[in-house]
Amino acid sequence: MLKHLLSLLLVVPAVLGHSSHGRTDLTSVKEAFKADEIVPQIIPRFEPIAQATLTFNYANGSSVVISGPGTRIQRNDAQIAPAITIGYGRHPPKYYVGVIVDPDAPSRQNPIRRSIRHYLARDLTIDRKTGFLKNFTAVANEYRGPNPPAGSGGHRYIFFLYKQPKNLDISFLDLNNRTNFNLAEFVEKTGLGDPIAGNYFVSEYQAPA
Ligand SMILES: *[C@@H]1O[C@H](CO)[C@@H](O)[C@H](O)[C@H]1NC(C)=O
Ligand SMILES: *[C@@H]1O[C@H](CO)[C@@H](O)[C@H](O)[C@H]1NC(C)=O
Ligand SMILES: *[C@@H]1O[C@H](CO)[C@@H](O)[C@H](O)[C@H]1NC(C)=O
Repeated sequence: MLKHLLSLLLVVPAVLGHSSHGRTDLTSVKEAFKADEIVPQIIPRFEPIAQATLTFNYANGSSVVISGPGTRIQRNDAQIAPAITIGYGRHPPKYYVGVIVDPDAPSRQNPIRRSIRHYLARDLTIDRKTGFLKNFTAVANEYRGPNPPAGSGGHRYIFFLYKQPKNLDISFLDLNNRTNFNLAEFVEKTGLGDPIAGNYFVSEYQAPA
């Protein structure tokens, strides 16, 4: 009994320390992206400098928060554009580029349409007080919810935030074609560099509501 109590006492501070320390949280985000093969399948490396939180706020007043990477959410609960908040990062530049991709199209086993572009926006700003990501110009690709085919298993819907380079030009992109979006090539062409924040959720097939 005493032994159990002692080990409990030892475990609790370790767990608290893990979740309350910002650096450690970013390390666990980084590790999750590796463990779920987003690194190196989709991006070569990931050194997040800020937390990204996606929140689905429903008309009925309830909400689902994607705080931890890989949170599962019902397809039908992910059809509205999530509100995105970014944790405080030092010396934030003025504009950011945000993107959400599903690399697992049509399935993670056979991703011949990798990736589907579910969202693309430039000229995003971070509200200093709330951390809310806001678009300053029209969104290039409005958020489109998951629609994975039946039997295709879980799909990763990954949000990446990039610092926006000066004179960003995305005019080469066919915005009407969201399929076979090569994120690595896009990043290379636009000079976005490495993402500074990211998060993702997992959804699978569900008959539309
Ligand atoms: C609110 O709406 C969401 C999305 O449609 C749904 O999943 C959830 O069950 C609803 N909650 C309540 C309390 O009705
Ligand atoms: C933000 O994006 C939405 C959707 O594209 C658009 O309706 C709105 O006008 C944009 N805001 C600004 C300030 O351009
Ligand atoms: C959509 O874009 C991808 C990637 O550039 C290309 O491979 C594909 O042929 C395009 N599809 C259409 C219908 O234009």
